[in-house]
Amino acid sequence: MTQIFAHRGYSAAYAENTMSAFIAAENAGADGLELDVQLTKDGEVVVIHDEKVDRTTNGKGFVKDFLFKDLRTFNANKKGVNNEPIPSLIEVLEWMQSNDLVCNIELKNGIIPYEGMEEKVIQLVRKFGLSNRIIISSFNHYSIVLSYRLATEIETAPLFNERIYMPWVYAQSIRARGIHPKLASISDNIIIGAMENGIEVRPYTVNKEADIKRLMNINCTALITDDPVKAIKIRKQFEKRP
Ligand code: G3P
Ligand code: CA
Repeated sequence: MTQIFAHRGYSAAYAENTMSAFIAAENAGADGLELDVQLTKDGEVVVIHDEKVDRTTNGKGFVKDFLFKDLRTFNANKKGVNNEPIPSLIEVLEWMQSNDLVCNIELKNGIIPYEGMEEKVIQLVRKFGLSNRIIISSFNHYSIVLSYRLATEIETAPLFNERIYMPWVYAQSIRARGIHPKLASISDNIIIGAMENGIEVRPYTVNKEADIKRLMNINCTALITDDPVKAIKIRKQFEKRP
């Protein structure tokens, strides 16, 4: 059965990349989470999508220019009632000790090539004993290769939004166990081809009912969605089928 990964947590209903969104995804019954990481000025791995804090918090400026303690004063739930800080990756990995979720950590190092990001993330994943529940992805494929070299035990998956020819050949060439294509960039045949060649396929961001059904019909490895509740409801209908 297709696994359901909550994109930035249950971001259809909660502020993206917050602990509330992650906990809500777990409560909804998601199999996994997707989250984004950047580095602060003092090298803390923090969970936030953009290079700047402007869109998702009440602060202004680049994540890389703030000390972690100062970044924590911003509210990542600015449209909600309760204040919520930007989570550290440590906070998420600590919380994962209490559940069985898989976590896809997207290294956001395509625009700012954060020095040492791969090492820091891997060191934390190992410290918390989570190597077999983590997938490292990135649009920066040099970073995917470096992550694999540093930690062959952790699954890696390149993100891409173009129609790569035989993406399983590419994935195998960089020793990635999975691929995370933009939904529009991959056909059913290519998804099936990749899976037949031993490559996990987790398209993003799959929110429309018809697309969710399409992927479940071909037993795609997983889908990454903003709305895990909707996807789980659809999956239940599939489970009831004779
Ligand atoms: O990991 C899939 C997806 O999150 C990649 O795009 O911009 O939502 O981080 P983005
Ligand atoms: Ca992402």
